[in-house]
Amino acid sequence: MVFTDVVGSTSLGEKLDPEILRRVMNEYFDRMRAVLERHGGTVEKYIGDAIVAMFGIPEVHEDDALRAVRAAHEMRTALEELNRELKDRQGVRIEARTAVNTGEVLAEDTRPDAPLTADAANTAARLEQAASPGEVLLGDSTYRLVRDAVTVEPAGPLDLKGKAEPVPAWRLLEVSPEGPGIARSLDSPIVGRDRELALLRQAFDRAAAERACRLVTVLGAPGVGKTRLAAEFVAWLEGRATVLRGRCLAYGEGITYWPVAEVVREAAGIAESDGPDQATAKITALLGGHEDADTIAGRLRTVLGLTDTPAPAQETFWAARRLLEALAERGPVAIVFDDIHWGEATFLDLVEYLAGWSTVVPILLLCLARPELVEARPGWGAGLPDAATIRLEPLTEEDSERLIDNLLGPAPLDEEVRARIRQAAEGNPLFVEEILRMLVDDGVLRRDDGRWIAAGELSSIAIPPTIHALLTARLERLSREERAVIQRASVVGKVFWWGAVADLSPAPEQATVGGHLQALVRRELVRPERSRFAGEDAFRFSHILIRDAAYAGTTKEARAELHERFADWLERRAADRLTEYEEIVGYHLEQAHRYRVDLGLDGEAGPRLARRAAERLAAAGERALARIDIHAAINLLSRATALMERGDPRRVEVVVDLVEALVEGGLVDRAREMLGEAAHDSDALADDRLRAHVLMGEWHIRASEGPSELEGEQDGFRAAEVFGKHGDDRGLARAWALVGAARWWAGRAGAAEEALERARQHARAAGDPNVEADTLLTLSAVLAQGPRPVEEAASLAEAILDEYAGNRTVEAYMYHALAHLRSWQGRFDEARALARRYRGILRDNGQEASWADSSECAADVEVMAGDLEEAVRLMTEGQQRFEEMGISDPTILPFLAYALYLAGRWKEAEDPAVRAVESGQPLWRLLAQTVLARVRARQGRAEEAEALAREAIEAAGRTDYLVFQGRTAVGMAEVLQILGREAEAAPFLEEAVRVFEQKGATVWADLARSRLGGMHG
Ligand SMILES: Nc1ncnc2c1ncn2[C@@H]1O[C@H](COP(=O)(O)OP(=O)(O)OP(=O)(O)O)[C@@H](O)[C@H]1O
Ligand SMILES: [Mg+2]
Repeated sequence: MVFTDVVGSTSLGEKLDPEILRRVMNEYFDRMRAVLERHGGTVEKYIGDAIVAMFGIPEVHEDDALRAVRAAHEMRTALEELNRELKDRQGVRIEARTAVNTGEVLAEDTRPDAPLTADAANTAARLEQAASPGEVLLGDSTYRLVRDAVTVEPAGPLDLKGKAEPVPAWRLLEVSPEGPGIARSLDSPIVGRDRELALLRQAFDRAAAERACRLVTVLGAPGVGKTRLAAEFVAWLEGRATVLRGRCLAYGEGITYWPVAEVVREAAGIAESDGPDQATAKITALLGGHEDADTIAGRLRTVLGLTDTPAPAQETFWAARRLLEALAERGPVAIVFDDIHWGEATFLDLVEYLAGWSTVVPILLLCLARPELVEARPGWGAGLPDAATIRLEPLTEEDSERLIDNLLGPAPLDEEVRARIRQAAEGNPLFVEEILRMLVDDGVLRRDDGRWIAAGELSSIAIPPTIHALLTARLERLSREERAVIQRASVVGKVFWWGAVADLSPAPEQATVGGHLQALVRRELVRPERSRFAGEDAFRFSHILIRDAAYAGTTKEARAELHERFADWLERRAADRLTEYEEIVGYHLEQAHRYRVDLGLDGEAGPRLARRAAERLAAAGERALARIDIHAAINLLSRATALMERGDPRRVEVVVDLVEALVEGGLVDRAREMLGEAAHDSDALADDRLRAHVLMGEWHIRASEGPSELEGEQDGFRAAEVFGKHGDDRGLARAWALVGAARWWAGRAGAAEEALERARQHARAAGDPNVEADTLLTLSAVLAQGPRPVEEAASLAEAILDEYAGNRTVEAYMYHALAHLRSWQGRFDEARALARRYRGILRDNGQEASWADSSECAADVEVMAGDLEEAVRLMTEGQQRFEEMGISDPTILPFLAYALYLAGRWKEAEDPAVRAVESGQPLWRLLAQTVLARVRARQGRAEEAEALAREAIEAAGRTDYLVFQGRTAVGMAEVLQILGREAEAAPFLEEAVRVFEQKGATVWADLARSRLGGMHG
């Protein structure tokens, strides 16, 4: 919008008689208004002597900002002119100051004359007040849209009233009358387009060889690269043909023949400064002795705008054709007409006429247009025997990535960021460029130490302002009804259904929705898509940014209503497989609710909507948790709980699920915070069942912190009793899973297996695959460490694999057991592959905490295989992940200490060993003690060493974990050897060999046996 105000009008009033003053001011207003309107603006209102003009209302153009700036600049010239006249007549002078600013304005569809202006308008008014007389200030948002067409100097940042931050501003010096606001760059190498270029070369070669006129039209969405393709082709034509270029203009007076005039001027070498006679002379010269030279030159005066006398079209056509033919007689001619979708009907007629009538001379007519050409001229080129059309499709993914790399230069860019940009741009090179420009301008993409890094969130890339203007302008060209249809579709999403859009339309408009959708397809704004609903046609937006622009064009009020109505439609339409769509239904209800809250419309319907949305999201989140998709579970359950009221009993349950997901996802602090809320609410509700669930949630957090096995078992029993009373199978599954885990910590394999089996049965009854899988993870550890011999344990794990075939998570857990077991048997390659698959699935599931934990398993395989450094590397990485996530789980530490010790890095082993001993987790404590004992022995702290080794042996003896028993026996033997008490060591090694063999852990047994052999030998 443009704000302009007269400076010092009071002093003007003192000098002039009121009647004359009014006349002077009226004249001023009239002239300014004329300038504004010539550029497509509308004067919205006069406030005192100030003029407020809008561009882009009611009709949006992609270059509205530039139009406004040109108007502001021209107003300044017009005022100078007026002042010269006034000086002579009244001896006065008017001075004005002006501001141009760009921003979103909410226009009421029903009253296009009454825009509700917003923040952007206030800024414009303030900017105007900050300008000096005669000055034009541009707001930053405007400057960004026109910067390649203007010369400015910084005038800011300015402290404006009502603005917290200083506002950047630019003083306008010059604006070029032609050319775009943002120049398209041609300097990055062209990517792809080989096929299209080949087609163009072929067409040219044929025109040249057959001495005929060919018409080739390149059709494609804005920014897809039509002009660039033509530029590339023109470069190839160099030396092969005379190339002439003309461009259709989007607006202006007398633009009909503008592109032809450009062509004629270029052909004849007519300069801007040439007068009418010179121009005519140059054309005559070009025709060199042609019999009709004077007639042709005379008629082309109309084209060149050298005369006001209108001439019949056919005469002009004829003259243009004869000129080009004369030229082509000397050698092939290629003419490029760009942007012909803006061409006037007469101009388009002329092009078809040229193509149809020019014969026997080699001319290639290359026309570039956006798809709306076909809307305006459905039969374009039809009837011409040799006319061809090339549709320019988006770039391939590889080409897009190459373009991104070319544009950013040699500095590397993060793989993921590049993929996000590529996805947002969807193969449109202009969008690639503009998105990059925006990200760099906004500092989201920064150069750091020779590479590009993303500072801040890149998960959703907004529409760059230039693209926004472009797309909005495209949507604006639609009829009111078509626009309403595409807006309704945009609420549905990138893919939408005819039936849904019809349902969202008012009854009288429903019948015409199909026709409008077809029109949108013809304009390439949407395209047909395979439908997932039988008998329901589906469409997709041809570009996500088009959807975004259409969505941005709807009011919040409409969004609130349409999202809700679409959710209703989807519920009805997908009634038989609602679970599949629950998340989507929830999303739309959530949006509807959000917009209502934004508008302060919550009222009575608000809580009802929130409840519906929350229920859908919670159900979808619980399902995500059940299939162990942790990222999705956290996202959905968080959104669900945010929509639920504190004190709602259902919320307590959902929060406990969320806590479980958060712990698995490694977000322990948030888990604690949420659990605190749930504990508080369940107490307030005095509901013992909910309290028991909260208790289970608490154990999820504690389980990773070195818990007390006794307390765990007791809490499990108590909760089981409560859940039993309520017939809550899900609760029972959780309770028995806790009992099972506590027994595993206590090293009671048999009892653990029994509790875990009960948990599994309840989980099945409750239909909770997540808890079911959880029990199997604990079971996998029990199978590996417990007293069952390796082969027996392995076949049990394999039986479970068969039973759960296709369940990736259960597979992962069984691979865990098998990786340990096979590595102890010396089947290293197999074990490595198992560990890798195990960890891969955890990663895919988003189980970050379990993934870090699983480094122990992979490292165990490496230790067995003798690659100690790899084992250390794996566990260091896992431990680091734990620490990043704030998880104090000590599981990795004793194993890390052991691998470091074995690798001869016993000094480094001390720290993790000490930490594991102090953690209090009984199993990890005893394993760490047996490592620390050896470290102490080497430090000469004999007594301490022996005591630690003995304590470890006793603790292992209380469990039925055979490998643990063997490891502590070997530990004691080594301590004694270091202390020089060889003779005492032998019985411990013999005992170790015995238990390892009982387990069938041959690698371990061999290790103990070789120590024994070494002693005797
Ligand atoms: N194949 C390509 N390789 C590299 N850059 C490209 C390619 N195609 C287009 N570009 C770049 O993308 C931008 C947009 O291209 P171009 O101006 O040719 O689009 P257009 O289809 O003519 O759009 P409009 O309909 O708005 O005229 C330009 O800066 C251009 O240099
Ligand atoms: Mg173009």
